[in-house]
Amino acid sequence: MSALPPESGTGADQQAIPQTRAHLRQLTLQCAAAFTVLSLAWPYFVLRNETLPWPATALAIGAIALLLASLTRQPWWWRLIHMLFAPLAWAIAALSIAPGWFLLAFILLLLVYRGALTDQIPLYLSSKDTAAALAELMSECPGKRFLDLGAGIGSVLRPLARALPEAQFTGIENAPATWLAGYLCTAGLPNCSWHWGDIWRTSLTEYDLVYAFLSPAPMPALWEKVKLEMPSGSLFISNNFPVPGVEASSVVEIDDARQTRLYCYRR
Ligand SMILES: C[S@@+](CC[C@H](N)C(=O)[O-])C[C@H]1O[C@@H](n2cnc3c(N)ncnc32)[C@H](O)[C@@H]1O
Repeated sequence: MSALPPESGTGADQQAIPQTRAHLRQLTLQCAAAFTVLSLAWPYFVLRNETLPWPATALAIGAIALLLASLTRQPWWWRLIHMLFAPLAWAIAALSIAPGWFLLAFILLLLVYRGALTDQIPLYLSSKDTAAALAELMSECPGKRFLDLGAGIGSVLRPLARALPEAQFTGIENAPATWLAGYLCTAGLPNCSWHWGDIWRTSLTEYDLVYAFLSPAPMPALWEKVKLEMPSGSLFISNNFPVPGVEASSVVEIDDARQTRLYCYRR
């Protein structure tokens, strides 16, 4: 690993606040459903000297959560999560699994999917055909410095660094397990620097091509960062997630399993 690239705080704070608010909103919604059902059911069953029927209570919480999520116009996947959360929590609790296993599963998931929790950016990998298309797009850049923001396990950097030995490649990754896998996969490539870091604290000023395969959530804030930091004539490329409200300079369509589209923005 070489020295860390320059840091930048641009976009980090703007990004963190809406993400936290979005998570809090969903948590509040689920708590509101649980509170509503329990505050009606608990006194009813206590007064009758009966125990709370947990399966029915969990189903009722799921139904109320679905209602609240629909009334507040949450996306369909959030409605599904809200509907299933309490019934599934009850069903899993009924299995009487030792709590340590849940902690272990949570830690393992966090090691790989940290980005999903903090930035709504999960791990999925660019295809070989995408790496080949990026190699061609490099020829349209004024220089040969390439940055992969959220570099996963190096599935883009490794083939590119091998194919273009005259260019310089940098990867930034912040999930521990994927960082380690990428570090091992790119070790020994002299033109590839692999860094532990946060995309929001990475300066883009030194790169001719910045590649991002993230999710729709960070694109507006990332575009602000790109506009502020990327030098004139450089190229920003987003795999599959266009910048909302901004017309791409060109779109490259790739005939791979995902039918990848590369949205290219010339600075
Ligand atoms: C969709 S994957 C793309 C991986 C790789 N660029 C590729 O194309 O195969 C996005 C990656 O970004 C990472 N990530 C998410 N948020 C990040 C952040 N704030 N800083 C650095 N990496 C992040 C995730 O851990 C994940 O590995």
